[in-house]
Amino acid sequence: MTGIVVIGTQWGDEGKGKATDQLGDRVDYVVRYSGGNNAGHTVVVGDETYALHLLPSGILSPRATPVIGNGVVVDLDVLFSEIDALTARGVAADRLLVSANAHVIAPYHQVLDKVTERFLGHRRIGTTGRGVGPAYADKVNRVGIRVQDLLDPKILSQKVEAALEQKNQLLVKVYNRPAIDAEEVCQRLLAQAERVRPLVTDVARVLNQALDAGQVVLFEGAQAHHLDVDFGTYPYVTSSNPVAAGACIGAGVGPTRIDRVIGIAKAYTTRVGEGPFPGELLDQVGEGLRQAGGEYGTTTGRPRRCGWFDALVVEQAVKVNAVTDLFLTKLDVLTGYDRVPVVVAYDIDGLRHDTMPMTQTEFHHAQPVYEQLEGWSEDISGCRRFDQLPPACQRYVRRLEELTGARISGIGVGPGREQVIMLHDLLA
Ligand code: GDP
Ligand code: IMO
Ligand code: MG
Repeated sequence: MTGIVVIGTQWGDEGKGKATDQLGDRVDYVVRYSGGNNAGHTVVVGDETYALHLLPSGILSPRATPVIGNGVVVDLDVLFSEIDALTARGVAADRLLVSANAHVIAPYHQVLDKVTERFLGHRRIGTTGRGVGPAYADKVNRVGIRVQDLLDPKILSQKVEAALEQKNQLLVKVYNRPAIDAEEVCQRLLAQAERVRPLVTDVARVLNQALDAGQVVLFEGAQAHHLDVDFGTYPYVTSSNPVAAGACIGAGVGPTRIDRVIGIAKAYTTRVGEGPFPGELLDQVGEGLRQAGGEYGTTTGRPRRCGWFDALVVEQAVKVNAVTDLFLTKLDVLTGYDRVPVVVAYDIDGLRHDTMPMTQTEFHHAQPVYEQLEGWSEDISGCRRFDQLPPACQRYVRRLEELTGARISGIGVGPGREQVIMLHDLLA
């Protein structure tokens, strides 16, 4: 038992940070493998609340070495300010490793993220505006800047110039914005080079050596299956591969290294930004879930769109990611309803679908078909064993297992580190 991936099974914000933190004391490395500081992972430890965007949540566990893999796009300003903020709170971040191959989010990526969103108008994605999409676009377009480029000023300046040549034409002629000065960008990046230098590592080699030695490596997903650029609700997705397979590409380990895939699922559904969401509740019920669950984005503060649990959404993620265990979070938020509806099918143009449809057009037309499950009124936030949950609540959990096709091994009953019910050992 060595390689474990934690992924989101919905549209993000399922509580991946908290689930990762649960395992932190038992793992040797915690690795971010995709995304950038578009993520927002909140971890509550005692009276302290930590909101991590770029650093893996495992940084809060002294035993685990935190790692940023090659699949991540790194905003160095954000990286350093997160390190400084944690250091000021007594959390050591000096053991962090950063892949030499990770791409850098440069200032022009943020500018482009914002202007393209504005340009798209009503077709906008609702991005986090952190420059993540443009940085990945440059990577694929082979004009990206990698962390290792910062260690070679001559190469850096050539690459920044090449990257800006076309972008400045776009900025000036299409978007009517001022051109960006390559020299200024280089100076800004070079100013960060000395600080990042000691952290830069051949991460793939380190992780493979650790796995060879039987150490435990946890790959902490950001975003989620349905935000994946290949499997999500394209184009309303992020620009990376948050799916479990993304851990192999984004950290440099082979697929046979992955022993477990832990899917995080919220006991209801939320989504931030634009894009289809068949079970979205635009009424007072949705507002009630938002208030009860504190559903406001950790990164942008935007209110999250809310709906009941959509079993088709999670079932799809379970299949494609070969999820071995589900960790069901925020079950406590569902206390107090007479009935708890669950989306068990879609009606698409008069036809019933028991799994997610193949095309995006169909998904846009999907109307939720609900099964009404019995609710419970007891406060469950103090429960630590499954048999302490009210019978209706237990039945809710068991029904979700049937509908999604995966066993539920952990349940979150509150934001605190200790507010969990474990049904199966996630590392056994
Ligand atoms: P992530 O992006 O997947 O790491 O999730 P976020 O941190 O963005 O959002 C999850 C939120 O729910 C955070 O504020 C957590 O503190 C909180 N949370 C996690 N698990 C539970 C739970 O079981 N119950 C409650 N009430 N809150 C939880
Ligand atoms: P965590 O890791 C929820 C969404 C954005 C937008 C789309 C594209 O906290 O679960 P981007 O800035 O990535 O180009 O935006 O993806 N998005 C998230 N939604 N949780 C996240 O991360 C997200 N990261 C990106 O809202 O709809
Ligand atoms: Mg989040």
